[in-house]
Amino acid sequence: MNYRELAYRNALESVRAIYEKSKYDPEVDLYRSIDIINSVSTWQFEGKEWLVRELLPFLPEKTEKIAILGSWYGLVSIILRNYVSEDVIIRNIDSDPVTEVIGYGLLKGMDSSHKNTQFIVDDAVDHVIEKRKTYDVFINTSCEHMEKDDIRFIVEGKKPSTVVCLQSNNYHSVQSHINTYDSLEEFVEELNLVSVYYAGTLKAKDYDRYMVIGQ
Ligand SMILES: C[S@@+](CC[C@H](N)C(=O)[O-])C[C@H]1O[C@@H](n2cnc3c(N)ncnc32)[C@H](O)[C@@H]1O
Repeated sequence: MNYRELAYRNALESVRAIYEKSKYDPEVDLYRSIDIINSVSTWQFEGKEWLVRELLPFLPEKTEKIAILGSWYGLVSIILRNYVSEDVIIRNIDSDPVTEVIGYGLLKGMDSSHKNTQFIVDDAVDHVIEKRKTYDVFINTSCEHMEKDDIRFIVEGKKPSTVVCLQSNNYHSVQSHINTYDSLEEFVEELNLVSVYYAGTLKAKDYDRYMVIGQ
């Protein structure tokens, strides 16, 4: 099975487990099932495969540690692992504790299921404050869910040599989107990077996804 098929199989298994648990525990959050299904949609794979494809040429030569901030269930780490050495530590950082459990479940049977693909429950900014010196790359596909000041802090607080790869969008109507942009140019300007290596747009039916890679 390729990584897409494995992700679908593992996602279905998580959804089944949630349903089984809900039969005996009224506290179980059934909405989580939809969130898991959404996280492995065709559109999610397209957005994250686009990210990996464009980022690979700009990975620092001696990359040892990559942090994925607001990593959700870790789809970027699953795809990226196919292209980087197993010695590279890829850390998924998310403030929602459930993402860790589901995320490890999604890795089952994958090349990425070894010890160097990790999930850490933490706030993105707290993690950057504590560990910023240790990472060669910061990836964040959840900028639209984080405050502008927090994204600015991540960019300004990183080591100069650390490469960043950031995604946001113009999907203003979603309530949880607190940091959206009207254009790719506006997103680039807000980030105020010293060097921009790539800036591009992926068009969805209802909105545009923006991505910027730089230092
Ligand atoms: C809806 S999900 C992912 C959305 C994104 N468009 C994507 O496709 O990757 C947003 C994730 O960001 C996480 N998140 C939001 N704010 C965060 C923060 N300050 N620190 C860490 N994780 C955060 C949430 O817990 C959630 O798992």
